[in-house]
Amino acid sequence: MNDQVGITPEEEDRQRRLAWFRAARFGMFIHWGLYSQLGRHEWVMNRERIPLSEYEPLADTWKPRPGCIREWARLARRAGMRYMVMTTKHHEGFCLFNSSLTDYCAPKHGPGRDLVAEYVEAARAEGLRVGFYYSMMDWHHPDGAACKTDEAARRRFVDYIHGQVRELCTNYGKLDIMWYDVSWPLDAEGWESARMNAMVRSLQPDIIINNRSQLPEDFGTPEQHITPEKGGRMWEACMTFNESWGYTPIDRKWKTTWDVLAMLRQCAAGGGNLLLNIGPTPAGDVPSPCGQVLEEVGEWLGKYGDTIYDATDPMQQEWLITGAFTRKGDKLYFHCNRWPGTELAIGGLVCKVLSARIVGGPELSVEQVRDRLVLRGLPAEAPDANCVPIEMTFTGEPRQVLGAGYVLIGDDPWR
Ligand code: GLC
Repeated sequence: MNDQVGITPEEEDRQRRLAWFRAARFGMFIHWGLYSQLGRHEWVMNRERIPLSEYEPLADTWKPRPGCIREWARLARRAGMRYMVMTTKHHEGFCLFNSSLTDYCAPKHGPGRDLVAEYVEAARAEGLRVGFYYSMMDWHHPDGAACKTDEAARRRFVDYIHGQVRELCTNYGKLDIMWYDVSWPLDAEGWESARMNAMVRSLQPDIIINNRSQLPEDFGTPEQHITPEKGGRMWEACMTFNESWGYTPIDRKWKTTWDVLAMLRQCAAGGGNLLLNIGPTPAGDVPSPCGQVLEEVGEWLGKYGDTIYDATDPMQQEWLITGAFTRKGDKLYFHCNRWPGTELAIGGLVCKVLSARIVGGPELSVEQVRDRLVLRGLPAEAPDANCVPIEMTFTGEPRQVLGAGYVLIGDDPWR
């Protein structure tokens, strides 16, 4: 134990390894595989019960365009993202990397090249950290389901998975994130997850590992919701752009720039990261609304990034229709994404607000009577249609407390 701060050396090392990740805040998730050719979600093989004999030929018809991965990396950087995580193998079992343990991999079929090598090179060239998504569940491997009940099958399958994880951690230089996914049908003991992750760390001492090998490891992965982990543990919310991870053009429920900024703010407010997914077309194009939205998010972050990247001090807050807070030390940022006009009222703030101004804009007048704050002098129209951060200085501990009932403490000055 370290007496001064009361944390173990393991925890100290974890915090050291997590430092870049905490500051990164925003990453690009990429789901790309044979399923991208079908365009009906990455679970299509399982959901439609496609027989292997019909699915496997997709390995030969997949011909991604050279250079496309570099375009995603460029887009990620311009969007203000600081890392990428790409599927090296999804549940379908097809490996985007060169594996000596199976022929069912990109260099030996249609793509004709190691897509993971290309990805790593592209991310590094754009100054982004590199994460590998790897599905432990495997619908293609003959022992992928049998391993649950047959010990010999389990032995073979676990050796296969560990062997591939070793390949990934050996053949691509320094990696930043190991992002496991679905660990059906075994438990941590069956997978020998502790041994596997010890191997990962021996090959990649600085790597951070997610919580999906059935061990908590370095960070939590709330999926399709933004919920901070308890006790200050690091977390990263992974979110889709529409409602599918793999390329699914029939799923048209795309998030807008406004939506992405709201998610990003919510992650920052809870001290976590946002891993936002794109599902490129089989050729490697980014589906049309995503590119435009990410460019706009990047422009916004270029102007207002300070109110997001580092503004991750925790603050208790309540919902308001006009926006929400992030905090950095003695500054609060109210991210106003539904503009109320010339006056903005915020209820329940338990701290004294000393000053307020629109970031990069004018000072606002501040009136605060008990827990009702009213800012005046806002322009009638929002200076930014997506989100306008309003910076406030304050004394005291900022907390926002609103009950469902209308309760005023002491005398009601308005009555
Ligand atoms: C789920 C899905 C999977 C997706 C993943 C991303 O576990 O099974 O398709 O890759 O979430 O977090």
